[in-house]
Amino acid sequence: MYPFPKKFWPFCAIYAKLYKWQICAVFLLSITEVWLINMNNRLFADITGAIKLGDADSYGVAMRFVWLLAICGICSIIASQISRYYFNAKFLVACRSRLEKDLFAYLLGHSYEYITTKQSGMLIQQKEQVKKLPELLENAFGDLRMVLDILIKAIMLMCVSPIIGGGYLLCAVLVMFPGRAFAKPLSRVSKARSKMSAIVDGRMLDIVNNLPLIKQYDNINDEKRHLHPLLKQEYILNQKNMLVSWGQYNLIGVITSLLSFIILLLGVYYWSIGAISTADIVFILITLTLGLSGLSELQYYLQQDRQAIATIEQGLEPFAEPHGIVDAESAKALKPHGGKIEFRHIDFAYKGARKPIFKGFNLVIKAGEKVGIAGASGSGKSTLINLLQRSYEPNSGEILIDGQNITAITQESLHRAVSLIPQDTVMFNRRIADNIAFGTENCNRRKIKKAAQKAYADDFICDKEGGYDAFAGDRGCLLSGGERQRIAIARAILRNAPVLVLDEATSALDSESEILIQKALENLIKNQTVIAIAHRLSTLKNMDRILVLDKGKICEEGTFEELLSKGGKFAKLYAATQRKGGKNV
Ligand SMILES: Nc1ncnc2c1ncn2[C@@H]1O[C@H](COP(=O)(O)OP(=O)(O)OP(=O)(O)O)[C@@H](O)[C@H]1O
Ligand SMILES: [Mg+2]
Repeated sequence: MYPFPKKFWPFCAIYAKLYKWQICAVFLLSITEVWLINMNNRLFADITGAIKLGDADSYGVAMRFVWLLAICGICSIIASQISRYYFNAKFLVACRSRLEKDLFAYLLGHSYEYITTKQSGMLIQQKEQVKKLPELLENAFGDLRMVLDILIKAIMLMCVSPIIGGGYLLCAVLVMFPGRAFAKPLSRVSKARSKMSAIVDGRMLDIVNNLPLIKQYDNINDEKRHLHPLLKQEYILNQKNMLVSWGQYNLIGVITSLLSFIILLLGVYYWSIGAISTADIVFILITLTLGLSGLSELQYYLQQDRQAIATIEQGLEPFAEPHGIVDAESAKALKPHGGKIEFRHIDFAYKGARKPIFKGFNLVIKAGEKVGIAGASGSGKSTLINLLQRSYEPNSGEILIDGQNITAITQESLHRAVSLIPQDTVMFNRRIADNIAFGTENCNRRKIKKAAQKAYADDFICDKEGGYDAFAGDRGCLLSGGERQRIAIARAILRNAPVLVLDEATSALDSESEILIQKALENLIKNQTVIAIAHRLSTLKNMDRILVLDKGKICEEGTFEELLSKGGKFAKLYAATQRKGGKNV
C-alpha cells in the first residue's frame, strides 16, 4: 500500500478493495431503488391510461395499479434508506477515518530531510486535498444512481418504442462527448489550481508562524508584496477553472434541450398514428422530463468529480514519494552496552551543495567518554549529529553504536538510544509536564519533577501559575530561552539514553544557571557517552577530550588545558570568547 500510487484510480482501488462488500451491497440496493422509482413512473402512466370516465371496469384496473404503485413506493423508500445507511454509516465514515489515519502516518514517516525542505502548511493542505476522496465517493454514489437511472429508463423506453429508447440512450452518449472533450483542460486547470492553493496556504502558514519576527522587523508590507502575486495567480486559475466548467455546462444544456425536443416530437407522432397508447405517451413524457434534466445534472457532477480527481492527484504527491530513510527489512533493535560511537571513513555532502562537508572522516568515541566539539560556525558540528541520528545518510562510510551499524538497526531504537538537546529547543504548545515527558513512556509526575529538579527547572516551573500544568505556548513562547533549554535538559535526563548529545545546550543560559546546569550534567552523565557542542568554550572544561572541527576535519584534539597550552586554533577561539566576555563566538 505504501507509498501510495501517484494516480487516482489505483489509489482509489486500495480503499475500494478494503470496503468491497459494503460497496457491493450499496450497488445492489441502488439498482433495486432506481428500478422501483422508474416502475412508479410506469405505474403512474398506466393509471392515467386506464382511467376512462364512467367506465366501472377501468376503475378496478386503475385501483390495481394504485396498490402496486403504493407497494413499489414503500419498497423504493426502504431500499433507498438501507443503501444510504450502508453507504454513510458502514462505508463513508469508516473510509474517512482510515484515510486520515493512513495519510498522517505516512506523512510522519518522511525523512527529516524531506520534511525540512517542504513547507509544513503545504503538506497539511495536500493531506486535506487527498482527504476529499470520501467526498468524491459520496458524489460518485450519486453518479452511480444517475447512470443506473439512465440505463433503466432507456430499457423501459425501449420496451415502449425501440426508436425512442434508442434515441434517449444516444442522447446520453452524445452528452458525454463534450464532457470528455473538456476533461483534459479541466483536469489541467484543476491540478494547477490545487497546487497554487497549497503553495498559498503553505506561504500563509509560514507567515503566521513567523509573525512575531515579521512584526519586529516591520516587514508586513514586504510579506504582502510577496504574497499578492501568488494570490493573483490563484485567482486567475480559479477564474479559468470556472470558465471552462461554465462553457461545458452550457454546451451540454443546449444539446440536451435540442435532443429532448426531437424525441418528444417523435413520441407525439407515434401516438397520433396509434403506434403507442395514451399511457405510453404519458410515460415517455414523465421519463424524458426527468431523464433529460438528469443527464445534464450527471454531466455537472461528473465535471465536479474530474476536478476532485485532479485535486486528489495533486495532493497525492507527498504520499506517493517514497520515504527517504527506511529501516532495513532485517533491522533489529539496537542493543546498547556503554554507548561507544564510531564514524568510519564518512563522506557526506548535502544534496545540491557544491562542496562536501566530510571527506574520509574518522572518529571513535569510547563508551562513557565525554567529548566536546568546538569549531567555527558552519564547520559541520551539527551535521555530525544529524548523521549520528540518521537524519541524513552519508554518501559512503559507516557509523556504529556499540559495534552495530546504524543502518542495520531500527530508527526507533536508534532515537531511543541517542538523546539530543538541540541547538533550537523544540517545544509543543502543551503542558510543561508533557513537554518534559515527551519521548519517555510510562513516566509519572514524581519522575518528571525529579528530572526538572536535576535540570534546575523545578523552581521556575513552580513559580508559574499552574506549575507543571501551565502551558508552554506556541513553540514555547511563554518561556524564556534559558527556561526552554532547561526543560529540554530535563527531557533528556528523564529519557536517560546511553548517548547524550548537547548541541549548544547551554547557549541561552546566564553564567549562574550555566554553572548549576554544568553540575547537574556532571552528576547525570556519569554513565553516559556525551557529545557536547559548544561555542562558549568554557563549558567544555570538564570534558575528557575536545575535538576542534575545521571544514569537516578534526584539526586539533586534547583536553581543555592541553589545547590552550598548544596555542592553536582552539586557543585562538577561546581568546576570542574571552574578549567577548565569555559569550558565544
Ligand atoms: N539541511 C541542509 N542543507 C544544505 N546545507 C546545509 C544543511 N544544514 C547545514 N548545511 C550547511 O552545512 C554546513 C555545516 O552546517 P552545520 O549546521 O553542521 O554547522 P555547525 O558547525 O553546526 O555551525 P553552527 O556552529 O553555526 O551551528 C554549513 O555550511 C551549512 O550551511
Ligand atoms: Mg550547529
